Amino acid sequence: MTAPKKLFIKTYGCQMNVYDSERMAEALGGKGYVETKSADDADMILLNTCHIREKAAEKVYSELGRYKGLKAEKPDLKIGVAGCVAQAEGEEIMRRQPMVDLVVGPQSYHRLPEMEEKTREGEKALDTDFPEEDKFETLKGRSKGKRGPTAFLTVQEGCDKFCAFCVVPYTRGAEVSRPADRILSEARELVDRGVREITLLGQNVNAYHGGMTLAGLIWELDRIDGLERIRFTTSHPNDMQDDLIEAHGTCAKLMPYLHLPVQAGSDRILKRMNRSHTAESYLRLIERIRAARPDILISGDFIVGFPEETEADFQDTLALIEEVKYGTAYSFKYSTRPGTPAAERPQVDPAEADDRLQRLQALLSRQQREVQDSMVGREVGVLFEKTGRFPGQMVGKSDYLHAVHVADCPKQAGDLARVRIVSSGANSLAGELIT
Ligand code: SAH
Ligand code: SF4
Ligand code: F3S
Repeated sequence: MTAPKKLFIKTYGCQMNVYDSERMAEALGGKGYVETKSADDADMILLNTCHIREKAAEKVYSELGRYKGLKAEKPDLKIGVAGCVAQAEGEEIMRRQPMVDLVVGPQSYHRLPEMEEKTREGEKALDTDFPEEDKFETLKGRSKGKRGPTAFLTVQEGCDKFCAFCVVPYTRGAEVSRPADRILSEARELVDRGVREITLLGQNVNAYHGGMTLAGLIWELDRIDGLERIRFTTSHPNDMQDDLIEAHGTCAKLMPYLHLPVQAGSDRILKRMNRSHTAESYLRLIERIRAARPDILISGDFIVGFPEETEADFQDTLALIEEVKYGTAYSFKYSTRPGTPAAERPQVDPAEADDRLQRLQALLSRQQREVQDSMVGREVGVLFEKTGRFPGQMVGKSDYLHAVHVADCPKQAGDLARVRIVSSGANSLAGELIT
């Protein structure tokens, strides 16, 4: 028998890339690869990249630069670029970095084994098609071993919304939902392997329509014994259907956490962003969700410095945030993306955008802290994931996705317990088991 080849995958970007990286490792597992944590002893390096902002995309080239020496020492080392930069830039990557052997877009991962073979024959392999066949169906061969208590599961991919700033509709393609029966069998398999919490993934996960709605799928998952928690991300406000809102009030396994990006609070800017909702419609939606599940933790995404954003527009965003009270949020300075409609428009002065981002983040972190602190004294469910830094300590996530530490904890990874929160620290809560 030949020794296994070693695969080093570095993952950037969103959770879908995390899921895809697992699937790519499994696909290459069939070619005799095992994963390694170090690039130095790898036979193949695969960067799973993100194109969402300029900085994310440029990181790929600086990372590739770092592997130059390795490749010179080890001519058999193969270097591949996957993910959204691969899709967006294709062949250009090989032009800029001729040492790259393989470029594969997110819809072609099932072709990786053949592509790897091609590189072993000394050829370059490039595939950025949007093929007809179902990559998920062809990307079989998930390993059967035991795994950690939480897992991602992609149910929908791509986006038809075309927000004026965003590359995703171009890098991930048109919106496609996977059939429910395949998702359910994958979920059962994950549960058999020790998974207790599944996060359903999609660029517009609540637009899911694989023979049923997302709420329908959640109720099907609810029936799987051993699956304790269900989450989903990311949702678009316009796809927040009544049955999904209702499920937040009635499905005990569906966790009280919702990531619902709004991007901005000014209708003038939302219109220019092509978001097709208003600040007011978003606020009314949040009201309805909170009526169904009063304790739900709301999370959001914001962009500041979008073309033509004025100080008054920015004040509208702050006002919306004040009204919603976010438990967590991700905020970004607008980044010009080639090929998107907003790239052509008058840009905001970068110093002004920096200043707005700072003010926005100050408000968001204050809110985040208040929401976290308000957990003190409450009883929450915690799914333990790993041991903590101190002997006897266990760390897990609350229903609301806060990290929770419990000292002298007899529980193990994968156990779910009721915990009383006793204090709130910089980035996590401390609690004690309720016995
Ligand atoms: N599909 C998800 C997330 C898309 S990308 C959704 O629709 O919500 C994640 C976040 O990155 C977006 O919500 C947005 O806030 C941010 N983003 C996308 N394009 C950006 C750009 N050009 N500049 C800055 N932030 C951007
Ligand atoms: Fe991008 Fe908008 Fe689609 Fe989200 S909904 S992925 S922000 S185009
Ligand atoms: Fe980035 Fe692609 Fe995800 S651009 S955020 S890796 S969909």
